[in-house]
Amino acid sequence: MERVVSGIRPTGFLHLGNYFGALRNFIKMQEENECFFFIADYHSLTTHPTPKDLQSNVRNILIEYIAAGLDPEKATIYVQSDVPQVCELSLLLSMNVYIGELQRVASFKEKVRRQPDNVNAGLLTYPVLMAADILLHRADKVPVGKDQEQHLEMTRDFAQRFNRIYKNEYFKLPMAYNFGGELVKIPGLDGSTKMSKSDNENSCIYLSDAPEVIRKKVMKAVSDSGPTEPGQPKTQAVENLFQLMKAVSAPDTLQYFEEQYQNCAIRYGDMKKQLAADMIAFVQPVYERILELREQDDYIRKVAREGAERARESAAKTVREVREIIGIKSF
Ligand code: ADP
Ligand code: TRP
Repeated sequence: MERVVSGIRPTGFLHLGNYFGALRNFIKMQEENECFFFIADYHSLTTHPTPKDLQSNVRNILIEYIAAGLDPEKATIYVQSDVPQVCELSLLLSMNVYIGELQRVASFKEKVRRQPDNVNAGLLTYPVLMAADILLHRADKVPVGKDQEQHLEMTRDFAQRFNRIYKNEYFKLPMAYNFGGELVKIPGLDGSTKMSKSDNENSCIYLSDAPEVIRKKVMKAVSDSGPTEPGQPKTQAVENLFQLMKAVSAPDTLQYFEEQYQNCAIRYGDMKKQLAADMIAFVQPVYERILELREQDDYIRKVAREGAERARESAAKTVREVREIIGIKSF
């Protein structure tokens, strides 16, 4: 059986980008693989959340994982910081990681640009901790969105380097994975190419959004004044609406609006109404389950506790073997 590992940082509620890039794959993959899905709370510390926010965000993601269909009987679901072995593996890996290669990572350069006052060491070593998350369970596949591709390449580099230095094949080389083949990037409602909570809250549809909230956000989505001649290329904002529709609507609905666009007969108001209805139909069952689970504290705690136990077992084995390979022995 193949091993699958992935995580999401608890920085707020999960949106449809997270769902189609990551969570939907988690749910499908749990059926036929040995899966470890965690909440990357150590990683979220790079942005300095308050203790209260951190705690409630972790709980929210745990609830959203389960509400969307992750099954604790099938997959190991845990909180990263409940498995501190990841810190040791990260430290051990870091000895063979070069500062130059970390400084060249696109997500690091982007953070330096965006938050010049908080360029902390955790941001620089982020890909090492992420590699440790993945290698800790010796994963074959890592379901993530397109923006994580470079981090996965680095994980493979670090794994390969370890194998080369210690002349073995201990780590497998994990691949970024999406069920449909290509890694995906879901666009925002504000005309931006990536739905992301860090940019604009209104660009995101959250799994925890009530139907009315979804309707309002979609009706306010950016579009344009419409095509004036057949075959006219779509603007980014309109392309986004079509991509979102492709994610949540039936193929013939998409085809209908595509034809309307091509004939210059499209009315974006109608398209948005349809998109809102399809998004609501898609999100509502998850939304309702979220509301229920928020009341089930004992169950949520039990899932986290049992997941942590299973994850620690797998992690302890890897760390024991890695220590052995490196030559760390207790007297
Ligand atoms: P955000 O960008 O909103 O902060 P995260 O970085 O926490 O989201 O992403 C968690 C997971 O969701 C990752 O696997 C990431 O690739 C995926 N993801 C996030 N946004 C999108 C998107 N717009 N399209 C596809 N996948 C996404
Ligand atoms: N870097 C990922 C993100 O921002 C989160 C993450 C941390 C992760 N560790 C991971 C994803 C390990 C997959 C595997 O979304």
